[in-house]
Amino acid sequence: MEITVIGASGKIGSQLSFLLAREKYIRNINLVAREKSLNMLEGVKMDIYDALAASGRDAEIRIHSDTEIENLCNSDMIIITSGAKRNGNMSRLDLAKTNAKIIKNYSQEIAKHCDTKIFMVSNPVDVMTYKALMESGYDKSKVFGLGTHLDSMRFKVAIAKFFKVHIDDVRARIVGEHGDSMVPLISSAAIGGIPVRRLPNYENFPYYDILNSIKTHGKRINGLKNGSEYGPASAIVNIVKCMANNDRRILTLSTYLEDEIEGIEGNACVGVPVKVGKKGIDEIIPIKMEDWEYEAFKKSVDVLRGYCKSVSDI
Ligand SMILES: NC(=O)c1ccc[n+]([C@@H]2O[C@H](COP(=O)([O-])OP(=O)(O)OC[C@H]3O[C@@H](n4cnc5c(N)ncnc54)[C@H](OP(=O)(O)O)[C@@H]3O)[C@@H](O)[C@H]2O)c1
Repeated sequence: MEITVIGASGKIGSQLSFLLAREKYIRNINLVAREKSLNMLEGVKMDIYDALAASGRDAEIRIHSDTEIENLCNSDMIIITSGAKRNGNMSRLDLAKTNAKIIKNYSQEIAKHCDTKIFMVSNPVDVMTYKALMESGYDKSKVFGLGTHLDSMRFKVAIAKFFKVHIDDVRARIVGEHGDSMVPLISSAAIGGIPVRRLPNYENFPYYDILNSIKTHGKRINGLKNGSEYGPASAIVNIVKCMANNDRRILTLSTYLEDEIEGIEGNACVGVPVKVGKKGIDEIIPIKMEDWEYEAFKKSVDVLRGYCKSVSDI
């Protein structure tokens, strides 16, 4: 498999490139950044080759400027992690508008030259996934975002800790925005196939505390170590692996929602359970939610539709 990482000079892009290079199914990785950061990419490449030598792995790593997208067309997938970070005075919408310009340029260039898949990581990820879909004109199965996959993993950790079980036994997901309006689906969370709501001590499960803690998780990491990298990069590798092996797992990614969920007006990219395979997103899984979860999800889609609309003309 050949993968391109645009934004490989950044925290997540470089960590992701390192983790991907260790995966057996990866043959080539293209590290892409702006001209000014190509030296940085040289350092990333040398460092990864050292790590590969230590682990007895072989993969080819190439460096490209972001002005030569036409040389990336053998990629099975192009992952975009480029983007400004929100500074103190910036609203979420300001960030969306700033990053939409970057994503527009890359998506148009990719679609002009290549037939591939686009995997969006840059924030606000649902809005940037939408922008990439619109500007590339690709089929929606081939443009998707990290969405609430990482938030869902954090939810799983919280459930495993509360019920004192191994995380592998927990199945749980968060839907909606990767942001303030996200909705953890407690009604379908299960441990070893048993709904958590049927387990002893469920009545003490601190749902809202956990929700608030997940909402602020990224911000707290930013404050402590100036940005997360291991978590997002590992979450991205999960998804790439699933596609490489055509695993058809159901993961919660950001995808363009139309009318797949009854009563919900889509027209936005949003984190929903999807079946993930070799071609990208095979299908959206319209799971049943409790009424209150459904209403919260509907609100989250409304929020995202507004954001998506506001970057349409950029
Ligand atoms: N979806 C999720 O769950 C999730 C989780 C965490 C983070 N994120 C997002 O992932 C993105 C990357 O985070 P990070 O921590 O890796 O950030 P970072 O270390 O600041 O790296 C940012 C990257 O974007 C590039 N970049 C910045 N401005 C650019 C521009 N105007 N045009 C082209 N490229 C530009 C930088 O390139 P240079 O080296 O050339 O400056 C660098 O490669 C952010 O948007 C962040 O919010 C998403």
